[in-house]
Amino acid sequence: DSRCVVLNTGARMPLVGLGTYKLRGSEQVHRAVDAALAAGYRAFDSAAVYSNEADLGRALKELMPKYCLTREDVFITSKLGPKDQGDRALEGALHSLSELDLGYIDLYLIHWPGTQGKVVDDKRNPGNRAQSWATLEDLHAQGKLKAIGVSNYTLAHMKELIQSCKVRPAVLQVEFHPQLCQTELRRVCAEYGVCFQAYSSLGQGDLLTDPVVLEVAKKCKRTPAQTLLRWAVQQGVPVLPKSSNPDRIKDNAELFDFSLTDNDMDTLSALDCEHRYCWDPSGVA
Ligand code: A2P
Repeated sequence: DSRCVVLNTGARMPLVGLGTYKLRGSEQVHRAVDAALAAGYRAFDSAAVYSNEADLGRALKELMPKYCLTREDVFITSKLGPKDQGDRALEGALHSLSELDLGYIDLYLIHWPGTQGKVVDDKRNPGNRAQSWATLEDLHAQGKLKAIGVSNYTLAHMKELIQSCKVRPAVLQVEFHPQLCQTELRRVCAEYGVCFQAYSSLGQGDLLTDPVVLEVAKKCKRTPAQTLLRWAVQQGVPVLPKSSNPDRIKDNAELFDFSLTDNDMDTLSALDCEHRYCWDPSGVA
């Protein structure tokens, strides 16, 4: 199936998942999940820091029957918050499991390489990361976290993890769009069998008005959002567009009935300038 990637655990993960970062409150989450399931989304990306795990779990339990889906048909990602990094990792992960209340989590990520409330160059960060990872490995062995991975890790953080882990990360989720092509990180992920996954593919909305993006979109007769998302999935990179608007949720999943020419792909990739719209983790010790 060209709409999924196979993780190093053998599990299949959809190429398009709904980012839930902006979804707040049970009604808004319910409405977005309904629109997403109707549009064919089967993956949902949450996190402890989004404060919507319980609402997401409840919406899925309420809505899966409407679409004749069972737990195995959906892929749920959540993330360990920076405040739970280190000796609070077990508590944090168990809290995510109980908030979602879906039996298990398909993919659980360390959200951020650092620890909340501490300076970025804190010497304790590597020890905290190691402890968090060991905790995730235990919960993975118990079957509670079907796959484990990391988010916002730099090349240095990835090398540290790959050298010391018992279970290799299944996924690295980072900011990725034509202005931030992440060539080196992608190469390392490919080398070690880690799935490279994108967030903020639309540059938090700013790239939707980029003249080069608009030009390629016009040529393909697709929306700027579809053009940017297609640029990623055509490279085999899974995306997590986030929207609370049902029409845009639908729009963002219609990526498999067109393709970009090699020339269009190159035109977009030429925008690479290492520009970030989100937090830069490169200073985290
Ligand atoms: P909205 O929720 O009003 O749709 P990113 O994922 O790069 O951080 O970008 C998300 C932002 O892009 C959100 O503000 C979202 O707003 C907006 N957005 C998402 N999909 C689309 C789309 N298809 N067209 C226009 N804006 C979109």
